[in-house]
Amino acid sequence: MSNSAEIKINGNTYELPVIKGTEDEVAIDIGKFRSESGVITIDPGFKNTGSTKSAITFLDGEKGILRYRGYTIEELAEKSSFLEVAYLLIYGELPSEDVLTKFKEDISRHTLVHEDIKKILDGFPSAAHPMGVLSSLVTSLTAFYPESLDPNRSADEVDLSIIRLLAKLPTFATWAFKNEIGHPVIYPKNNLDYTSNFLQMMFGLPAEEYEVDPVVAKALDQLLILHADHEQNCSTATVRVVGSSHASLFASISAGVCALWGPLHGGANQAVIEMLEQIQADGGNTAKWMAKAKDKNDPFRLMGFGHRVYKNFDPRAKIIKKAADDVLKKLGVNDPILDIAKGLEEEALKDPYFVERKLYPNVDFYSGIIYRALGIPTEMFTVMFALGRLPGWIAQWKEMRENGEPIGRPRQVYVGNNERSYVPMDKR
Ligand code: SDX
Repeated sequence: MSNSAEIKINGNTYELPVIKGTEDEVAIDIGKFRSESGVITIDPGFKNTGSTKSAITFLDGEKGILRYRGYTIEELAEKSSFLEVAYLLIYGELPSEDVLTKFKEDISRHTLVHEDIKKILDGFPSAAHPMGVLSSLVTSLTAFYPESLDPNRSADEVDLSIIRLLAKLPTFATWAFKNEIGHPVIYPKNNLDYTSNFLQMMFGLPAEEYEVDPVVAKALDQLLILHADHEQNCSTATVRVVGSSHASLFASISAGVCALWGPLHGGANQAVIEMLEQIQADGGNTAKWMAKAKDKNDPFRLMGFGHRVYKNFDPRAKIIKKAADDVLKKLGVNDPILDIAKGLEEEALKDPYFVERKLYPNVDFYSGIIYRALGIPTEMFTVMFALGRLPGWIAQWKEMRENGEPIGRPRQVYVGNNERSYVPMDKR
């Protein structure tokens, strides 16, 4: 492989260094190109542009490979636990038993939130989307822990903010849900594991012992693992750019929550279920909706299909599809929209429009079906995605800080008016 590339422009030839990653990915470093040539590159949506060198997650879209710190998603989903994966992503190695025990204990001791959070919650109407409440509550942590505003504090202080965020997000998520349904909030129970505590805060009632179904807790733990990181996706890139201005961890994560909310990104899991329910209400006529998805004049897209990077199957979708069958069977749930989803997938995998564009089911296509079976309401699906993605966002923010990366500030090509003089009102 050559270690440099040439760009010929305006009669000059510029030699640019080439870098190669540990999985043989190759990039042209254009860091000095503008200062030498006065020319920039442009790539709307950054479809072909790398923003950083990262050691956290590797994915190969053509081969359907996804690894966290070198471990395959298949192995981690089968053998690990969400908090062990969170530790791996954030600190780079699988923890020893003692380290993992302490990590879990630290988290369990920080699940409680300040009582004044309820005053913030009370300010939200019950119609508030839980993602908007979640991003606001995450930002509110800067008020309760003002020392966290300075990201340049000691590693121990940054670690404390990391523990606080991992511990309190499930409390925020479930309190946002209780606010939406007008129920009293349920306090965390530190004797329960992460997902069991989430479930009892989500579905528990005051003065009632909530019985956690181990099948549900395990399925939820696996779903959180599958969502934990995904290299430079839209919301992670947002966290890194916001953090690059030296905004606090809490402010950066809150920005990531908002980026994830969009239906083209994490909001797709909610949009998939709404789409499947729409198709079901329309008599299950999948052919009609496939035609709409292919019609350029129709804004309808097959939600849960397609991916910026995976041009083959999304390995997470394969695992979730199997888990959906298992969980629904174990819970004795027969959900007709699972059959509609499978029918759509079958048709799309044979349809030239989807095959030519390499559109396959992504992580969001089947996840909502499991969340539904677990009793989680549709508007909470993207909150579940945020819960899973939190350790990835934290790991990526921490790596960007430790790399001392510069503030993110893209260039542009101006296509507006050339210089012109001010026109007085009576001349307009
Ligand atoms: C996530 O990046 C990540 O890693 C994200 C994520 C993560 O873990 O963080 O994996 C999570 O966000 C998964 C994606 C969830 N979103 C959806 O399911 C929404 C539906 N999918 C699309 O909107 C779309 O596929 C994207 C947004 C996912 C990807 O869009 P791209 O890469 O910008 O591709 P594109 O829009 O340029 O599409 C290429 C072609 C176009 O057709 P042509 O103009 O070439 O004729 O494919 C078509 C698109 O119209 N197309 C679709 C389609 N997705 C793409 N047509 C119908 N239905 C779809 N779902």
